[in-house]
This record gives sequence, C-alpha cells and structure tokens, in this order.
Amino acid sequence: ADAKLWGGRFANGPSEAFQAFNDSLPFDYVLAEQDIQGSIAWADALRQVGVLTAQECNQLQQALQQLWQRLKSNPSAIAKAGDEDIHSFVERELVALVGDLGKKLHTGRSRNDQVATDLRLWCRQQVTDLTQNLSDLQQQLALLAEREIDAVIPGYTHLQRAQPVLFSHWALAYVEMLKRDLERLTDALKRLNQSPLGCGALAGTAYAIDRRQLAHQLGFDQPCLNSLDAVSDRDYVIELLSTASLSMLHLSRLTEDLIFYNSGEAGFIEMADDVTSGSSLMPQKKNPDALELVRGKTGRVTGALMAMTMTLKSLPLAYNKDLQEDKEGLFDALKHWRAALQITSQCLSGLTVNHQRCREAAQQGYANATELADYLVAKGVPFRQAHHQVGELVQLAISQRQPLEALALSQLQRVNANIREDVYEWLSLESLLSKRQALGGTSRQQVTSALKKVRQQQQIS
Ligand code: ARG
Repeated sequence: ADAKLWGGRFANGPSEAFQAFNDSLPFDYVLAEQDIQGSIAWADALRQVGVLTAQECNQLQQALQQLWQRLKSNPSAIAKAGDEDIHSFVERELVALVGDLGKKLHTGRSRNDQVATDLRLWCRQQVTDLTQNLSDLQQQLALLAEREIDAVIPGYTHLQRAQPVLFSHWALAYVEMLKRDLERLTDALKRLNQSPLGCGALAGTAYAIDRRQLAHQLGFDQPCLNSLDAVSDRDYVIELLSTASLSMLHLSRLTEDLIFYNSGEAGFIEMADDVTSGSSLMPQKKNPDALELVRGKTGRVTGALMAMTMTLKSLPLAYNKDLQEDKEGLFDALKHWRAALQITSQCLSGLTVNHQRCREAAQQGYANATELADYLVAKGVPFRQAHHQVGELVQLAISQRQPLEALALSQLQRVNANIREDVYEWLSLESLLSKRQALGGTSRQQVTSALKKVRQQQQIS
C-alpha cells in the first residue's frame, strides 16, 4: 500500500509517525460506496469530453462496480489496507483490476472536490435514514398517547406540581419537538444536496465538463457554483450536527422526564426489563440505563458540533487539511443520534403507566388551586383578589394536611362568602381538564384532536 498518489516530487517518504497522523483511511473507509459512485459518474464525464473512449469508460465503470461488490459485505476491512485515504485505496484497487487505464480516472479531478462530493453523498443518505428514525419515534409517541389516553399526571413548573395534564399531552409535546427536528433535516438537505464535483483542487477543472449534468447524474439538485467555496464548504456538516445536537437535547429532556416518572418517588411509570439493568451489589435495583445513556450521549453530539465549528473558524480559502477533521465527529454523532432515537422508541413501546399512582399525584400538591381562583372569578371576584384568597385557603389546607376539596364549605366561606356547594365539582380533576379547551390545551377533546392530526400527518408522509 505504498503507492502514494503524489510521490514524484519527494526524495524521501513520510515518517511513520507523520503517516499515522495524516492517514484518514482508518475512518474515511465508510465513504467507499460514495467514492466509487462518484468515480463512476466522473468516468462518464471524462468520456463526454473525450479523455476516455467509450470502451475505456465502460471498462473502468465495470471494474468500479466489481470492486464495490467485493467490498460491500465487509467495508470495515478496508480500514486496515494501509492506504492514505479512501480515494488512494480505490484508485490502487482499480489499477490492480484494470492496469494503467485506472491511472486515467483522476484526470481533471482532485481529492478536494472528490472528498467534498463523497461526504455530501454520504450525508444525503444519512438524512434519508434519520428522517425515518425520527418519524418512527414520533409514531411510537403517538401510539403511547393513544394507548394511555386515560392517564392524568401532574404537570410541573420548577419541578413543583403545577396543574394536572393528560399523559398523552406530555407525549404529544415531544411529537412537536421531533416535528421541528424533521423540518430542520429537510431544510438542511436543500443546501447539502449540491455537487462540488468538477471544481478540481480549488480553481475549477480544466476540462469542459458539464457539471450540471454530472450533478444530476449523482442525484444532486444542482452543482455548487463557486469552486473555492465548493471544496472548502462544510456548512452542511455543521447544519447536520446542529440538527443532531438540538434533537439530542429534545431526547435528553424526554428521557429525563421518564427517568423521573420511573423513580420510586414518582412511580408514574415502569420501564420494561429489556431496557433496564441491575446492580452488582444491590439486588433490588432496576435502573433505567437506556434512558440515562440517551441523556448522556447528548454531550458527545453537542461536542462534535463545537469541534467542527471551531475547526472551520478562520480557515482560509480554499481546501486545508484541517477539513479532514470533518469526519470522525460527524460519523460518531450521527451514529449515536440514530441509536438514541431507536432505543428511545423501544423504551416507549415497553413502558407501563400506573394510572392510579398518576391520578393520586395529580390530585396532590394543590394542583387545583388555579381552579378555585377561576371559580371565584366566575363569581365576579377580580382575579388578583381571587388569587390572594385562594392562597389563604391553600395555607389553611396545608396546616390541616388536607387537599383543598376536603375543606368544609363553612371554612371556604370564611374567606369568601360567595362560595357554594358547586365548588367541589369545579375542583374535580375532570372538570379541571375539561376547561383546558382552547387550542393546544390539555382537555381530552383537544388532545384527541391533536392526536388525530398527528396520525393524519404520519399517513401522508
Ligand atoms: N483525506 C482528505 C480529507 O479527508 C482528502 C484528501 C485531500 N488531500 C489533499 N492533500 N488535498 O479531507
């Protein structure tokens, strides 16, 4: 594997240490398929400008296809081949198959436009796959919302019980977040799906390549329009990492909620055995490891975003070897984002909800205090005054270790004489929920119709 792509100008070879430092094959081997795909298209482009005869083009394309057939069952074996990078590897293998003809393929092309093309092709496939993973998780959340439509949990602000909400309302909140993640992916694809091929090292290729046609042949929407920008732009990497990072933030909030709901203190849900693990010391333990790992992986994904952002900062035009640092963080981040989406789906599908425990908790903590204030408002009391009076009643109830609805009518009337027997109905969980009827609220009707909309959207996409 010593056949360097650039040995002629050098009297001495690279040191072993430099070579190990410089080589990217150990990680860019994952681009093998895209590199071969790009080369097949490039052979066509060279045929059209007369650099290759139709027969030569054919022979090269067949050899490239043959090479991929051989590699695809075990691409990771490429990593150990010892070549400088995936482009050197493919060229060397090609020459081994077709001899000197293989040395014609790099005419008018640089590894700079080549690697930029490969990476964009790779990212495009990732967007397709991740779109599916995000939709799957949305689907799983919708299923959970459907299955547990009767469950009521306390909603929190400041992690203090605030007002009861439907468990399904909670699940649909994450459907909304994932919807935005999906939109960001789709939007990133617009800028990502453009072709750098035919931009050469930096100045454009000296051959009369029809770059528009070449772009379309590779499934790109259009060619990149400036050669300097084309070989050095990695905005799309940052956009994907930023989408990944934001989506992981959403997952970290979802898993954090579930970890809390699953705790002994809350006891709202129980995670299935197949996504939990035990303790080597404490026999009673059943830990939500899958959820914690999703939460934890948010750090490395955001780390990859920061790393790429800093690598691009102040980088002069055009290609610099710094850009080789675009890959490992991206590969790692997208791999773990995907794994997190998948395992979160699995966690949701197996969890059980303890309806009784949820309902009890929703009824504790004076989560219906706002209802009592609204009741007084309905009796003509200005809200600020009602708020104050209910505050007094809450204090009284706390001192008696009772919920509001356990106070006697006479006690309630001491604070406001207009309170009547119908107040107890107002304070009930169902009455409270049914009042949250405005768009986006947690009434059963609102949640059911939100769920229906999600279902419709999922059927369309
Ligand atoms: N391995 C390089 C990368 O990942 C591509 C090769 C560009 N090398 C060069 N000397 N211009 O970016």
